[in-house]
Amino acid sequence: MTIMDRGTTVLIFEAPLDSALYRDALRLREHILRRPLGLAVSREELADDTMRQHFCAVDCGAVVGTVSLRPLDETTLHLKQMAVAEPKRAARIGSRLVAHAERWGASAGFRLMIAHARIGAEGFYLKHGYAQEGGVFFEQTIPHMRVTKRLR
Ligand SMILES: CC(C)(COP(=O)(O)OP(=O)(O)OC[C@H]1O[C@@H](n2cnc3c(N)ncnc32)[C@H](O)[C@@H]1OP(=O)(O)O)[C@@H](O)C(=O)NCCC(=O)NCCS
Repeated sequence: MTIMDRGTTVLIFEAPLDSALYRDALRLREHILRRPLGLAVSREELADDTMRQHFCAVDCGAVVGTVSLRPLDETTLHLKQMAVAEPKRAARIGSRLVAHAERWGASAGFRLMIAHARIGAEGFYLKHGYAQEGGVFFEQTIPHMRVTKRLR
């Protein structure tokens, strides 16, 4: 079986706030993005979640990937909480989540996607047509860079 085939059972779903999918996605992103830094999902982050669109990747009933979109203004979306379960990486699940997020953003009339890429994960965004904007800054205790991409 090729690496591409491994992604074929994975489906992307919207995860409405407080749905079972949302709660599973929240657990996954805490496990991947916060616990290794000695952090938990904060109250502020949960409040911010109410202003975001959430999507998740599901494989055989299990949430294996997550991404959230937060409108910053009428034209710009902030892509956040990009995470794929470790055993499922390198199977293009992250790529499918980004592509889905971009399609959703473009069809909703947004023209620019921005993300705060962790240093070490920036190559993932650069491969998807994002460009670095500005210098390195710290967020959640680790270095990040802002990346942006025009949506069509
Ligand atoms: C970053 C992440 C979401 C990528 O998901 P994934 O499903 O493994 O990525 P894909 O299989 O879709 O990879 C697509 C391409 O990006 C590349 N890529 C993936 N992760 C990368 C990384 N950390 N650095 C550089 N390139 C990366 C892949 O090699 C692949 O390249 P190719 O097109 O030349 O084959 C995943 O590794 C992850 O959850 N990492 C931990 C959390 C994290 O850092 N999230 C980002 C926060 S800003």
